[in-house]
Amino acid sequence: MTIAYLNGEFLPLQEARISPMDRGFLFGDGIYEVIPSYDGKLVGFAPHIDRMQQGMSFIHIELGLSHDDWLAICEGLMEQNGKGNLGIYLHVSRGADDKRFHAYPEDVEPTVFGFAFEIAEPPVADRSLAKGYKVASTEDLRWQRCHIKSTALLGNVMHFQHGHSSGHNETLLYNARGELTEASACNAYIVKDGVVSTPPLDNQILPGITRLMLLDMLGKDGSIEVQERIITMDEVASADEVWISSSSKEIAPVTEIDGKPVGNGQVGPVWEAAQKIYSANKFNY
Ligand SMILES: Cc1ncc(COP(=O)(O)O)c(C=O)c1O
Repeated sequence: MTIAYLNGEFLPLQEARISPMDRGFLFGDGIYEVIPSYDGKLVGFAPHIDRMQQGMSFIHIELGLSHDDWLAICEGLMEQNGKGNLGIYLHVSRGADDKRFHAYPEDVEPTVFGFAFEIAEPPVADRSLAKGYKVASTEDLRWQRCHIKSTALLGNVMHFQHGHSSGHNETLLYNARGELTEASACNAYIVKDGVVSTPPLDNQILPGITRLMLLDMLGKDGSIEVQERIITMDEVASADEVWISSSSKEIAPVTEIDGKPVGNGQVGPVWEAAQKIYSANKFNY
């Protein structure tokens, strides 16, 4: 039985109830996080909470929860859901109003919700064992505020479904200029001649915590060069390696895009080196 958290209380997920007038339900008016945890140890707790607090300030939701308050919620969810490999989902919506009106209402209490779900073992940094992801690609037709981790995910859902319904694991996205943005639920990278490149942070992509941690680790390690720059889809097509990253996948090697092999079609050596560095350092954030 999954135990959830709702507005100050831990309770069985099936018993958690919100109003149909909740603006998260009516408008997707809220933000969320997913924090991975392994055996009760969270990965990237502080940057995840920082991003959530920044998201709340972007959309003017005021909630007086500190990092320690969020930590207590995460620890409660891990404890009550048997530890193991868990994704901790945290969600804040603007709350329930008594009418449906677009403007932000005053004096409504935000809804705070969390639950935990099982996630896969993290990838082993070994090329011979790694699963190569097969992805589709399509033009990024989401909104122009992709840096906000909004619960209004229909654009992402439709892009993910595009790949899923044609047998792909993810969908890579590019803008109208033919430049790589990210994937429907992951950040994206290419590797060419040993150099890792990833699109710069702007309104077109989510500032992924896995991306943040990976770039920090690679910068400190110094063995792999990293660039944050605009990447064209022509460069993606001729890359030696392509990766996607997210909290639950960590760094995932892409071996096929729209049915065409990436590089030699095998999981690459730079991925292996980068995932090794990530695996060794991920609990330090
Ligand atoms: C659109 C999008 N980009 C990137 C990411 C990766 O972010 P993170 O590394 O923080 O999980 C996600 C994760 O859900 C996402 O939805």
